[in-house]
Amino acid sequence: MATDRQAAESKPLRIAQITDTHLYSDPGGELLGLNTRRSLEQVIDLVMSARQPDLVVSSGDLTHDGSPQAYQQVRDCFRRIGVPVYSLPGNHDEVVTLNDCMNSNPFLCVRSARINSWQMLFLDSTVTGSDGGYLRKAELDALDTELASYPDLPTLIWLHHQPVPLGSRWLDSMAVDNPQAFFDITDRHSQVRAILWGHVHQSFEQQRNGVQLLAAPSTCIQFQPGSEEFAVHLVPPGYRWLELYPDGSLETGVERLQKIPGEINQDARGY
Ligand SMILES: [Fe+2]
Repeated sequence: MATDRQAAESKPLRIAQITDTHLYSDPGGELLGLNTRRSLEQVIDLVMSARQPDLVVSSGDLTHDGSPQAYQQVRDCFRRIGVPVYSLPGNHDEVVTLNDCMNSNPFLCVRSARINSWQMLFLDSTVTGSDGGYLRKAELDALDTELASYPDLPTLIWLHHQPVPLGSRWLDSMAVDNPQAFFDITDRHSQVRAILWGHVHQSFEQQRNGVQLLAAPSTCIQFQPGSEEFAVHLVPPGYRWLELYPDGSLETGVERLQKIPGEINQDARGY
């Protein structure tokens, strides 16, 4: 029988990826007819009832309008979970405002974190004035340096834009523009266990060179997988959970609300 100490040492670090919340300065703000704050509140209820996490990662598009008031809405919602919240920017965020608003306890905007026996690295893949992604040299250099500094720590890499195509033409036109430069680095460091992003408003799981590539649903509207053009997918919002074990292994999955919390305008041609 396992002792208490053995049980404690094998206890996983639990993470909830709660992404693309798209909140507005007005708590009544709607995206394609869906109240994004109410939808986030319901996903947070699910997170807290299903599996209380040790920390949250909010992987971009925290707000839709980039206003300080919208970030205050995000803070009000996330604070209820009572754990640290790590944020990185998406194409709908204002990077400076996000860093100002989401960087005091329990909120963190950092490049790296070492927690238990794991490392997490956070990249800014945003391009001012564009919905697409790009990893600037400073981001790539920092990534390489952090990975070289802690070769023995199993590592998750977080960013907003997808570094691989999903097979959805309109979304793939807004992916990371220079993925080879990124993978040239990650391929040199065998401790990378997973690369995770938001942006695509759908679940995605693939393996590349033994590294898990993972995306999560949005907490509001979902995009149709494999669609050539912008198309809404009428499935409920959700989040991705991860359990990171001391031996470097991880488990992950997606949980969703039972139903969409509102009426979505299906005829929309964009968002
Ligand atoms: Fe988004």
